[in-house]
Amino acid sequence: MTPSRHFALIPAAGVGARIGADCPKQYMPLAGKLMLVHVLDTFASCAAIDHTYVVVSKEDGYIDEALAGAKHLADRVTVIHKGGATRHQSVLNGLQAMRGTAGDEDWVLVHDAARPGLTGELIEKLIAAISDDPVGGLLALPVVDTLKRSDAEGRAEATVPRDRLWAAQTPQMFRYALLRSALEKASEVTDEASAIEALGLKPKLVEGSPRNFKITLPHDVALAEMHLKGKP
Ligand code: C5P
Repeated sequence: MTPSRHFALIPAAGVGARIGADCPKQYMPLAGKLMLVHVLDTFASCAAIDHTYVVVSKEDGYIDEALAGAKHLADRVTVIHKGGATRHQSVLNGLQAMRGTAGDEDWVLVHDAARPGLTGELIEKLIAAISDDPVGGLLALPVVDTLKRSDAEGRAEATVPRDRLWAAQTPQMFRYALLRSALEKASEVTDEASAIEALGLKPKLVEGSPRNFKITLPHDVALAEMHLKGKP
């Protein structure tokens, strides 16, 4: 039997309106490189990753220029111009485009373009923890804050016990055929693990890192740059 390969799949078809930039947030420059190029470089320099696919919107006018400035990525990255209306749909379109290349048992690591703080060490940690797992899993962080549920007026109505609560990150790593069929069956989900959970399976939680946070709001940019500049 041939050993399973590892493919990265980066959904990068969002607009990221909350950041208030004049381009989709994945194309914002951060610490001297575009956000998406940080992510592609991290996967490209990770020996365990066989190839990376990036899903952009059909009308994306930035990706060609981004890759023209990163020629070293030419044979490590394939662009799929099939973004969907949601992240779920973009990932599913990417998986469908990989049909024929990815085998049913190959692993797919889905990672948000908006998490440029990912490191090769975190990818390797996830792969080492999941490779023998029958279900798959994801990077996540145990919740440390006390959690409040608000009423409609923004007043604390209840305190939610935080034991065993985790904040999901990406990459989320599942076998190709299982992930595709889970996402095909799922109604709208915001991550891959939710679709797998809906099948009654329990993805493994692997401790990630605070630096792998998702850039969403304008003030996230300075923190991300601080981490990226400190990256070896
Ligand atoms: O908007 P948010 O930050 O939650 O998006 C997470 C990731 O999903 C981003 O990398 C974004 O580009 C991607 N996405 C996508 N297609 C969409 C919406 C978001 O690929 N329709």
